[in-house]
Amino acid sequence: MLPIQPLPRAQTNLPCISHSPLPRISSSLESNNPKQQASTSTPTPGKIKRLVLSPEGRTKLNRSPDRDFYSFPRFVTHVDNGFISTLTDVYRERLKPGWEILDLMSSWVSHLPKEVEYKRVVGHGMNAMELARNNRLEYFFVKDLNLEQRLPLEDSSFDAVLCTVSIQYLQWPEKVYAEVFRVLKPGGVFIISFSNRLFYEKAISAWRDGTSYSRVQLVVQYFQCVDGFTQPEVIKILPANVDTSPLTWLLRLLGMSTSDPFYAVIAHKNFKPI
Ligand SMILES: C[S@@+](CC[C@H](N)C(=O)[O-])C[C@H]1O[C@@H](n2cnc3c(N)ncnc32)[C@H](O)[C@@H]1O
Repeated sequence: MLPIQPLPRAQTNLPCISHSPLPRISSSLESNNPKQQASTSTPTPGKIKRLVLSPEGRTKLNRSPDRDFYSFPRFVTHVDNGFISTLTDVYRERLKPGWEILDLMSSWVSHLPKEVEYKRVVGHGMNAMELARNNRLEYFFVKDLNLEQRLPLEDSSFDAVLCTVSIQYLQWPEKVYAEVFRVLKPGGVFIISFSNRLFYEKAISAWRDGTSYSRVQLVVQYFQCVDGFTQPEVIKILPANVDTSPLTWLLRLLGMSTSDPFYAVIAHKNFKPI
């Protein structure tokens, strides 16, 4: 595990904090890197065809700034081991070695398969101390996507973007998806996964007040509202489907088994590579 680095500006709503001495990414879109300057001077997010959420659907019970809620690190896992191993299997199957990956709304743990080497993994989240402990990340940036959705990243620079058990906190998902579309390479994949757990007060009302069915539909519609994503694929694994062995039944009885349902919605930019 990496030691936590001194974080002089870490707990503020600063746009960007990265592992030193690795390169910083600027959320102001100013860069010393000419390549980055060239491509970020006129970034074109994906075209939003329509808004999915109503103003009411975007509201949260806790209206205080998200940076306050995430100002202290939570070194916990937000879903159970069954969910995590299913997700890691999905990544093992869908993400190729050598890829460039963006882990959006990340924390101190990575769910990527440990044995696979990627070209680079960039992290984004709300708490720099959590992200600094995530030893999968080459570098990371901190940004409140409910305040501003622009990602400080080059166009067409990632093979995959991941978002795990976090989509319910986005108040402007349409704009975030449009940005994800921009930073994905053609054919790149966006994998959203979620369960039924949430920080209730921080989830948007459209999610909070929904059912598991309506939540899947919501994530599907987020994809469909941006021009150019392929038809989303839905993976749904309920605990009973995972394992019905007597041992699991006994473990469940003792409260020691997995029970978090697994949902993933997956789509590609422009086309699904074959
Ligand atoms: C339940 S945690 C999930 C963390 C991580 N994806 C995982 O699987 O452990 C929710 C995450 O959503 C992100 N998040 C919440 N509100 C956010 C906001 N307003 N802007 C950007 N990210 C936010 C934070 O990174 C936070 O750690």
